[in-house]
Amino acid sequence: MSALYGTYARSGLAFERGEGMRLYDQNGVAYLDFHSGIAVNALGHGDPHLVGALKSAADKVWHTSNVFTIPEQERLGQRLVDATFADSVFFTNSGAEALECAIKTARHYFWAKGETDRYEIIAFTGSFHGRTLGTIAAGGNPNYLEGFGRRLCDEYGMLLVLDEVQCGYGRTGRFFAFEWSNITPDIVAVAKAIGGGFPLGACLARGEVAASMVPGTHGSTYGGNPLATAVGNAVLDRIMEPGFIEHVDQMGQRLAWHLQQLAQRFPDQVLELRGKGLLAGIKITPPVRDFVERLRSDHQLLAIGAGDNVLRLLPPLIVTEADIEEAVGKIAAAFEAIQAETN
Ligand SMILES: Cc1ncc(COP(=O)(O)O)c(C=O)c1O
Repeated sequence: MSALYGTYARSGLAFERGEGMRLYDQNGVAYLDFHSGIAVNALGHGDPHLVGALKSAADKVWHTSNVFTIPEQERLGQRLVDATFADSVFFTNSGAEALECAIKTARHYFWAKGETDRYEIIAFTGSFHGRTLGTIAAGGNPNYLEGFGRRLCDEYGMLLVLDEVQCGYGRTGRFFAFEWSNITPDIVAVAKAIGGGFPLGACLARGEVAASMVPGTHGSTYGGNPLATAVGNAVLDRIMEPGFIEHVDQMGQRLAWHLQQLAQRFPDQVLELRGKGLLAGIKITPPVRDFVERLRSDHQLLAIGAGDNVLRLLPPLIVTEADIEEAVGKIAAAFEAIQAETN
């Protein structure tokens, strides 16, 4: 029996190495990765630029402290400010911490203005923002507001805080998913892909909103440390390469097309297609947990479930159309196997 907390229904599968779109288990069996460590491995496995950045950072200094200047952190922060709506960045180790920072920043903004009664966070029903107490409280909030968005925020003087932890950093075919709508947020939380597999997150904010976050209001021992931000800069190098996000957009369209074909072929199993870019959801009839396990053990395809019996596909952003065809072929084979078993 494992010495670890029983918080995960873990598979016994353990991976030894990875290369591009594939992970290899301890017996050398290759798995096609449409899971990406839940949207983390945006550049797949073993990207030479990322590996090189981490190795050279490891030869320098691993950790100092945020009481000193961390040049790689300064550089990554400036690059994110130059590339996005934000004027100011706070680095964290995870998505939940990025959201905690977002919540604190929003509350502090109103507190510093003397509007101390403005502390409530309104969130979408069914939303998920992490597993700290604060982010659990902010997720699935029953205060559902139809059409809640920038216009309502402006009307009522509220701040618009977006969680781009999973959908940001290129995954939908834009750098941020919010770029698909014509809005500018006040605060955005990012994580997952920003470190490409090294724990890193960030809270990005407009200057006026972040202005009250003065010394003593927030902090993190590790957030944005030299190793993490060296890798973060290397990830950004790759994502900002000309054509990278266009590739994601194209592959997202190809994935949607192949999934439409799949839905037509298996109308009894595929109930609905959802998602944007390389964040795809397929609402299916077979129980999704069993289906994910079947894909993994019988077809060597790594995918993940989502609420509402949805099969979630999140390939690394370097995916090719051949990989997409292979993955969709594996899903089709799994549907066929289920049909054969039930007939
Ligand atoms: C949309 C979203 N927000 C926040 C989080 C929390 O991130 P972390 O697990 O890094 O704390 C997740 C993690 O899955 C997420 O998908």
